[in-house]
Amino acid sequence: MNDLRNIFVLENFSEMSDFMVEKWESISGESIQRKGYFVAALSGGRTPVDFYRKLADFKGTLFWGKTHIFFADERCVSFGDKDSNYGMLAVELLNRIEIPRSNCHPVPVEEFSPEIAAIKYEEDLRIFFGLSPSEFPEFDLVVLGIGEDGHTASLFPRSEGIRETGRLVVAVSFDRERHDRVTLTLPVINSAKNVIFLASGKNKSAVVKEVIEKKDSVLPAALVKPERGNLLFVLDSGAGSDLSVAANR
Ligand code: 6PG
Repeated sequence: MNDLRNIFVLENFSEMSDFMVEKWESISGESIQRKGYFVAALSGGRTPVDFYRKLADFKGTLFWGKTHIFFADERCVSFGDKDSNYGMLAVELLNRIEIPRSNCHPVPVEEFSPEIAAIKYEEDLRIFFGLSPSEFPEFDLVVLGIGEDGHTASLFPRSEGIRETGRLVVAVSFDRERHDRVTLTLPVINSAKNVIFLASGKNKSAVVKEVIEKKDSVLPAALVKPERGNLLFVLDSGAGSDLSVAANR
C-alpha cells in the first residue's frame, strides 16, 4: 500500500542522494547488527550515480567488509563498456571503498552467453543465501529505477521476464534494447526486506503517477510489491510533480 510513509518527494538529485545515504546507513547498520552482514542488489541507470558517489565519500562507518553487493540487472557488455552497470558501480563506488573483491558479485556477462550468465548468477545466489530449490533470497535492500515505459531492473512491459515465477535470474532480449540483459526476477525483488525506487525528472512524472496510484497497473515497476518488506519511493520534484496522493515533501 502506498501512503505518506513511503513516498518522499525531495527537491533535487543532491537531496535524494543524501536521503539514500542515510537509508543505506540505517538499513545496513540494522542488518549487520541483526545477522552480521548486509546484502544489497543495485541498479544502473543515471539516477543513482550521485548516490553511489556520495556513498563512496561518506565519512561515517559503513562496514564494507560486512557488505555484499549484487546487481539487480546487467547489460551483456564488457565491464569496461560505458553501458556496463558493474563498470559504472566500480568507478563510482567499488574502486573507491575498502570492500573485499569477494563481496562484489557482478553478473558474469563477460564470460558467458546471457542465458548461461543468468543460470550462473542464479547458482551464485542460491549458494550465497543457502537456498533450497523452492526458496527465494531475502536481500536487505534492492535499489531500483523506473524507465519512462514503466520498466524496472531489466523487466520490460509485455516481456516474458515479468511472468517468471520460479527462476531467480533470467536473460532478457528485448527488441527496443541495444544489448541483451540479465535481470533478477519479480519474485526475488518481492522477497526483499527493503525495496527503494529512485526516479528523477519531469519525464518520469506520468509513469511514477501510474505506478504509485493506479491500482491495477500492469507496468513492471507496479508489480513490485514486497511480500514482507518495505517499499519506498524517493523522487525529485519533477518525478513527483503529477502525484495526487500525499507524499513527504
Ligand atoms: C539500468 C536499470 C534500469 C534503470 C531505469 C532508469 O541498468 O539501466 O536497471 O532499470 O534503473 O532505466 O534509468 P535512469 O535512472 O537512467 O532513468
